Amino acid sequence: MAPKITVIGTGYLGATHAAAMAELGFEVLGLDVVPEKIEMLGRGKVPMYEPGLEELLRRHVAGIEGSTGRLRFTMSWEEAGEFGDVHFVCVNTPQKHGEYACDMSYVESAIDALAPHLHRPALVVGKSTVPVGSAARLAARLTELAPAGSDVELAWNPEFLREGFAVQDTLHPDRIVVGVAGERGEKLLREVYATPIGEGSPFVVADYPTAELVKTAANSFLATKISFINAMAEVCEAADGDVAKLAEAIGHDERIGKKFLRAGIGFGGGCLPKDIRAFMARAGELGADQALTFLREVDSINMRRRGHMVELARETVGGSFLGQRVAVLGATFKPDSDDVRDSPALNVAGQIHLQGGQVTVYDPKGMDNARRLFPTLGYAPTALEACQGAHVVLHLTEWREFRELDPAALAAVVAERRMLDGRNALDAGAWRSAGWTYRAMGRPQA
Ligand code: UDX
Repeated sequence: MAPKITVIGTGYLGATHAAAMAELGFEVLGLDVVPEKIEMLGRGKVPMYEPGLEELLRRHVAGIEGSTGRLRFTMSWEEAGEFGDVHFVCVNTPQKHGEYACDMSYVESAIDALAPHLHRPALVVGKSTVPVGSAARLAARLTELAPAGSDVELAWNPEFLREGFAVQDTLHPDRIVVGVAGERGEKLLREVYATPIGEGSPFVVADYPTAELVKTAANSFLATKISFINAMAEVCEAADGDVAKLAEAIGHDERIGKKFLRAGIGFGGGCLPKDIRAFMARAGELGADQALTFLREVDSINMRRRGHMVELARETVGGSFLGQRVAVLGATFKPDSDDVRDSPALNVAGQIHLQGGQVTVYDPKGMDNARRLFPTLGYAPTALEACQGAHVVLHLTEWREFRELDPAALAAVVAERRMLDGRNALDAGAWRSAGWTYRAMGRPQA
């Protein structure tokens, strides 16, 4: 019989994983400790914006007309413990307040809450991003707390999904990485992924520490690539070079590749920034901090981008934001998401507001989250309204909607035709020929 699956934590990762597992034919029970989330998911509603996820969910949530009924949600640990043969732990591991280290409390409470209800052999699979060494510690904790003792195994199976592509990345992963301590874990996970999900995806089996490190290493590499191109943008600006052209040219070398070389205001979100910091903190604990000192530089190049954007904007409006209206297009950390965690766009908007600018933000999907985080900023219901009377327009998240804006229509409502492209994503020629002063980061002014 196919194993029954529980998914603990129903954020971007968990909600997508639960729906994907149901899509593959498994009976799935999703668990969360937030009642509002469980109530919404139970009605087939996704508590965040993720393209294609709601459709996928509605195909399987029990009680929805025409659904397979394979997916249910609960808040009961007892029910989860009784139900599942394989328990995927998908809870958040945010950065600790005021520290670089990662906050493991959600993972630890999930293990502590689930374990006492594991009365028969089961596999607990960690998917959250954790500091290396966590899996071994959590495995020992499970054996200690679970009534089934050593019949409960732990595996570590990091997840590499990108927000905005969560469904696609979950159903067609680049690779499946599993860290195991015994054969049973590997066998069960091979069974779970011996579905279309695993087809064509390399299956990499490793020990716990290697599997944990694969995730942090991958994110560190991506962050490094972005900061590298942003460092080149700084040099290009000083030397009057064009970083977009440079990225295109170096990207033709297959060893370098074209992806993740878009210079701009840098990376944000709930993963890359906190993952590189947690990695440095953990390396320090292990006495290997020297190996990762470059990540400190990656982080500081990245943070400098935000300040640089603020400077460019201030310079553009004549040296002071006082009495200046600043339109901000984009609030989320990337397009096709409503996530504003550590968003470079909102950080820039907040800094300008603090320096006396009258900021008006518009974002296609991130308005509610942005308002909650930065209630004192101005907000407008459309891009056009955000730009009304603006002395400068900042393009800070590269939504398709912004690339499709009509420069002439915007020109009619702004006070000054000044566009600063913080994502190097707009068509410079189109804006300039509509009479705009268009400036992008790391590129010549005209
Ligand atoms: C990332 C990893 O890509 C994913 O594998 C992991 O599981 C979670 O962390 P995500 O945070 O969803 O995913 O976004 P990603 O697409 O990696 O973008 C991260 C940030 O980098 C965004 O703020 C984006 O705007 C920025 N970015 C990306 C750049 O500034 N330049 C680029 O060339 C690419």
